[in-house]
This record gives sequence, structure tokens and C-alpha cells, in this order.
Amino acid sequence: MRTIGIGIAGAGTVGGTLIDRLVADRAAVTARTGLDLEVRRVALRDLDRPRSFDKGAAVISGDVMELVADSRVDLVVEVIGGLEPAGSLVVAALEAGKPVVTANKELVAARGPELLAVAAGAGVPLLFEAAVGGGIPIIRPLTETLAGERIDRVMGIVNGTTNFILTAMADGGSDYATALAEAQRLGYAEPDPAADVSGADAAAKGVILAGLAFGVWVGVDDVHREGIERLSPADFEMAARLGHVLKLLAIAERRPDGVVVRVHPALVPATHPLAAIRGATNAIFIEGSSVGELLFAGPGAGGEPTAMAVLGDVIDAARGLLGGSVVVSPAPAATGGAGSFDSTPTQWCLRLEVEDSPGVLAQIAAAFGEAGVSIKLVRQDGRGEGASLLMVTHGATEVAQRSAVGALRRLHAVREVASTIRVEGDEA
Ligand code: NDP
Ligand code: HSE
Repeated sequence: MRTIGIGIAGAGTVGGTLIDRLVADRAAVTARTGLDLEVRRVALRDLDRPRSFDKGAAVISGDVMELVADSRVDLVVEVIGGLEPAGSLVVAALEAGKPVVTANKELVAARGPELLAVAAGAGVPLLFEAAVGGGIPIIRPLTETLAGERIDRVMGIVNGTTNFILTAMADGGSDYATALAEAQRLGYAEPDPAADVSGADAAAKGVILAGLAFGVWVGVDDVHREGIERLSPADFEMAARLGHVLKLLAIAERRPDGVVVRVHPALVPATHPLAAIRGATNAIFIEGSSVGELLFAGPGAGGEPTAMAVLGDVIDAARGLLGGSVVVSPAPAATGGAGSFDSTPTQWCLRLEVEDSPGVLAQIAAAFGEAGVSIKLVRQDGRGEGASLLMVTHGATEVAQRSAVGALRRLHAVREVASTIRVEGDEA
């Protein structure tokens, strides 16, 4: 049996677990797959820090490029994260004819079509199942099982850290900072957790999902992105009063003028399947013209599930190296092709601090009417100085919703537009 030499860049949450599985379970992996996989080189940043994983026969180095130079390394795994040196490593490994497995959504989102073209030119695969949804199989279903399907919309919870925080806050068991610290301790968060809470990580995953679902790779900067940092306890109260749950959603849809990818907090009815997705679990809905609605759910972050997804790609690529199967990367998509977020229909929920006097509601209704936004629900709390209004609109374009809010801010009777949050899954 030919042994396949594995080189791994990064031995943190994901890489460390992967090394443990490959070294400690080597015989079990061979028994399950018929492959002998040996970790031969591991690249780290800090060579002095003690490590808990068993490196087996591996040589430890500080320079990721040594994985490419080492002729005993047949296949390279990139789990360091970030754009560089990860990008240079991936390109160099592919150009050297070594299949690459990566979990790096930031890199794949930013340079996917270019890297897939390098892989195609070199005749070796670039695989990234772990880059979206952690342990959930989603890349292969999209690119293989659903290759013939016309997909119109992909919507989901694709960041475990933020879903963990939102779940803890909604349960009332934790504040934002405590929940984020716990998500970091559990290995869910990115090396810089700002990428999680700002929605950047979910945006990268949205770009990848859109690229694979629609064949259009929009720029990361074309994604409309809002994180969870500005959500307040009052927003959670508002959600509960409406019978909704707050989630950070990534939504990619085919619109008449192109593909629109957006990431933002949203109120989801408590009866919606996404409302039941708690903690670091992720869930992705795919709407196709023939299959209807598909839901993929499971552990979206953390060392064990993510390392398993990486290992699946490693096994696939190793089989390809041995000629046992043809392993192909996802097809490259065309770049550009982003549609207008402004003309995308969305539904909004607003909390307004208002004067409680005759005619105020009429002024507010007129502001919505003039912007072309129809009101679905109005609920008043309190009276006099302390009155507040909870309003939910019907669907209207983003630009119309924003124009209505702009008009409300100019009304003397509206003391404050305290909160605006989109609503998803409420109207067909
Ligand atoms: P960690 O921060 O835990 O680990 C990163 C590893 O990369 C560390 O071992 C670090 O070395 C090493 N490293 C960083 N920079 C360099 C460099 N320049 N040269 C050599 N080694 C370097 O990150 P994670 O394991 O959490 O994430 C890794 C990748 O997996 C990221 O792309 C992330 O987005 C992705 N991912 C993570 C998931 C998760 O749940 N954590 C889930 C899905 C994907 P050192 O230990 O010496 O600091
Ligand atoms: N930081 C990411 C998350 C890891 O929380 O979802 C999984 O991609």
C-alpha cells in the first residue's frame, strides 16, 4: 500500500484536531478507507509554544513553504486562515502538483475563481468542504448532487459564534461579552473574532455559497453586511413580544439584475425551522426549482466537526492521487455579476419612541405610504412621554424602506427610531 504524505499548515483548533485524528486514528482511517495517510510535516507560527497533539513522525517547521518544497509531502492542508501566507501557499502547492485542502473561507471567498483556475491548470484539486458550515456537508451537495439544479435562493445561519451568542442572549443566560468569550474558549471563533461578530465570516461563506449555487462569484465588498454588535437587550425583548427569534442570516439570491448576497440580523418567526437552530449549530436552506426546499443542518464550528470535514477532503484527494477516483474541484464561477441590494425586497421591523398625541399615527402612516411601504402591524406600548411603537412592514425594496425611515426621522413627533431589524420567513 502506498503511503500518502500529508503536510499541514496550522495546528490550532482545526489543524491540531486533524493531526490528532490522523496520527492517533491512522489504523482506523486505513481500515475504513484502505488508505495509509501519514502526517509528514506541520508548519506553525510559534515553534516554542508547547503543543498538546501527538505529532507522530512529522517534522515541525516555521515556514509554510517548506510543505511545498518537501518531496515527501504529497498533499497540503491549509488551516492557518487569513489571506497571506495562506494564498501564496495554496498557489505554490497547486502549481507544484500537490492537491490542496483548505478550511479558509476568507481566502476562498476573496480569490476562489483564480485559485480554482490554478488548480484546474495544474490538474490537481482544491477542496474546501470545511470552509462553509463546519461539519455540515454542503459544498459537495451543491457542486455534485445539485449540479443540474437551478437554484434561486440560499439562506442560512452560517456562523456558529454569532448563533451561539444570540442563543445565549435570547435565553437570558449571558451577556454579549461573556457569550463571545465562551465561544472563543470552545474554539468556534475566528482567530480575530471581529470577523464573526461583524458578519465578515458569514459574508465570505455567502460569497462561496452564491458562487457554487449560481455560478456567479460576487466580490466580498459587494455583500451588504451588518453584524450583531449593535443589537441591544431591547431588540431581544422586541423579538420575543412578536413571537420571533433574532438570527444572523446570510442570504444569497438570484435577482433579475444579478446575484445579491447580504448578511444581517433578522427576526425569524419562532415557528420557522431556522428559529430552532441554537448554539454553534448552522443550517442552510437551498431553494431549487425541481427539488423545492432542502435544509442542511449540523455543527457549524469547532475543532472536531471541522477537522472531520477537512479529513473527508484529504481522503478524497488521496484517493485521487492513487488513481482510485477522479477528484475534481468545484467548477470556477464567473466573477462580477452582483445585483443591486437597493432594489431587493425586504421586510422591516421598527421600534419608535414617539409622542402620544392625536394625529401622530396618521403622520407615521403617511411617511410609510409616501415611501411606498405598506404597514403590516402596529403595536403601541406606554402612553404620553413614554410611548413607543412597534411596527412591522410588508415587503418593499430596501431603498423604499430606508426612505420611509428617513422620513420618520424628520417627523417632530418621532423622538427616536430606536431600532430597525429586517424580518425573514414571515411572508411567502
Ligand atoms: P487557530 O488560530 O486556532 O489556528 C491557526 C493555526 O495557524 C495556528 O496553529 C497558528 O500557529 C498557525 N499559523 C497562523 N499563521 C501562521 C503562519 N504565518 N505560518 C505558520 N503557521 C501559522 O485557527 P482555527 O484552527 O480556528 O482556524 C483555521 C482555519 O480554519 C481558518 O481559516 C478558519 O476560518 C477555518 N475554520 C475554522 C473553524 C473553527 O471552528 N475554528 C471552522 C471552519 C473553518 P501557532 O499555533 O503557532 O500560533
Ligand atoms: N468562526 C466560524 C464560526 C468558524 O463561528 O462559524 C466556522 O467557520
